[in-house]
Amino acid sequence: MVDTLGLVFGLGMALTLVVLHFFKGTSKPVPEDIAQEVLEQRASTVPETDFPEPYNRSIGGGGAAGAVAGGAEGELEDSEEEDEGFDPSSIADDEVEYYEIEYVKEGETIEVANNETILDAGEDEGWDLPYACRQGQCLSCGGRVASGEDSHDFVQHSNNETLSDDEMEKGYMLTCTAYPTASFSVETDETP
Ligand code: FES
Repeated sequence: MVDTLGLVFGLGMALTLVVLHFFKGTSKPVPEDIAQEVLEQRASTVPETDFPEPYNRSIGGGGAAGAVAGGAEGELEDSEEEDEGFDPSSIADDEVEYYEIEYVKEGETIEVANNETILDAGEDEGWDLPYACRQGQCLSCGGRVASGEDSHDFVQHSNNETLSDDEMEKGYMLTCTAYPTASFSVETDETP
């Protein structure tokens, strides 16, 4: 009798386990793409950086950062072109032009060639004009368009490592590297 009950009990347990085996875990839906979800969560916690690929750690940010880096590179190329400066030796002898430059403080107007600096031309007249480096690297030779107009319209520099565009727009120039491109009046010994 005991053996029969044990056998029935054992069969019942086995049947229960078989049923549980087939139904266990099948009711919970599985996300279709867990990997993408995890990637997006991680991406939202990683700050954007300006590093171009492959150093950009943000997911999906590489393209934008690359575009920014490309833009900066373009600007750098532009500024490098601007910094090359004017080369007076590139003017052929038969293309030299002369402009009337009035030196206001010296009280005279002289002709200055477009391959001669405002400083050199003044010194040739015997005037004691201020200077130091004579290479566009300081402000000692500073001068200004007397009218206060933009000096870009009257001179071009072979080298300018000192004056900003804003200062030049207020008429300032470095007479040691400034070559005339038009006639104008200059006030020597003027700095921003
Ligand atoms: S003397 Fe230095 S910039 Fe002209």
